[in-house]
Amino acid sequence: MLEVENLVQEFRREFEAIKNLEQWIQARDRYLSRERGLLTRALRSIGRLPPEERPQVGKRLNEVKEQIEALLEQRLSELKAQMTAAQLERQRVDITLPGYQYPLGMRHPLQQVREEFERIFVRMGFMVMEGPEVEEDYYNFEALNIPANHPARADQDTFYITTSLLLRTHTSPVQVRAMEKLQPPVRIVCPGRVFRRDAPDATHSPMFHQIEGLVVDEGITMGDLKGTLEFFLREAFGSEIRVRFRPGYFQFVEPGAEVDISCIFCGGNACRMCKQSGWIEILGAGMVHPNVFRFVKYDPNKYTGFAWGMGIERVAQLKYGIDDIRLFFENDLRFLRQFN
Ligand code: PHE
Repeated sequence: MLEVENLVQEFRREFEAIKNLEQWIQARDRYLSRERGLLTRALRSIGRLPPEERPQVGKRLNEVKEQIEALLEQRLSELKAQMTAAQLERQRVDITLPGYQYPLGMRHPLQQVREEFERIFVRMGFMVMEGPEVEEDYYNFEALNIPANHPARADQDTFYITTSLLLRTHTSPVQVRAMEKLQPPVRIVCPGRVFRRDAPDATHSPMFHQIEGLVVDEGITMGDLKGTLEFFLREAFGSEIRVRFRPGYFQFVEPGAEVDISCIFCGGNACRMCKQSGWIEILGAGMVHPNVFRFVKYDPNKYTGFAWGMGIERVAQLKYGIDDIRLFFENDLRFLRQFN
């Protein structure tokens, strides 16, 4: 019994000294290890005591074991709580610190105009399609009724990559590609980059953007062309504008038209922006030429259609009063932020 009480005393001292998990594990193993634990061994040695002492010592040892287990259990929870608290302290976040300011990007003004126009046509049931910027002579000219050596090719100064590969000079080749893929009824708009061999100045850029449109079905007339474009132009520039169609020449349409809107700056009187004419030229359009249908194997006796093409920069310049096209491509943030 004396030895048992000594063991208890010893445990008490060691128990008080436990400061961390390692010491706790050491103490637990020292007393309770199944092999060499002091208490385990003491319990095992009961058999060597004189029989009359066994019950009393056994009872006491079991009591002691329960107490030791309970104390250790309790200390373990304390240690865990301490460790959690310490960890939380280490990871403390000062929620009163100001947050980081992540600079937010914005859409380029040309992209804004493009998306606005796309939305108007999508509402009318059009599909948006794109084509390659590096294009074959066939799609850019040939299938648009502009044969090799035709003087009309001289209208567009072209960047050639090889004799048959070039940077497209307009988005019209996408009309041909679309008709090769789709059967009528066709209602598409085709936005994208185009290229012309022009020296950059306030009104020219060797790269700019167009948005093309094409409608093909049975019984499409010039009236559909006028109605569609008038609706679009009023949506884009305001319901008060007037629209004017003048004869215009494009090889892939017949008849062809240049479309003007009444000047959005002076209301159609006369000002610097409309060069005193009261009108602003906005797009080219026309009824699809039967030869174009023949190239894509549409029957020109069955189908008719209309197409138009419009420069995005030009429209954006008008809408925002920008007098130099180069501003769109210099990426000067002081310019671009004005469109946020
Ligand atoms: N592709 C012509 C241009 O770039 C515009 C156009 C498209 C005209 C479709 C008529 C029909 O000038």
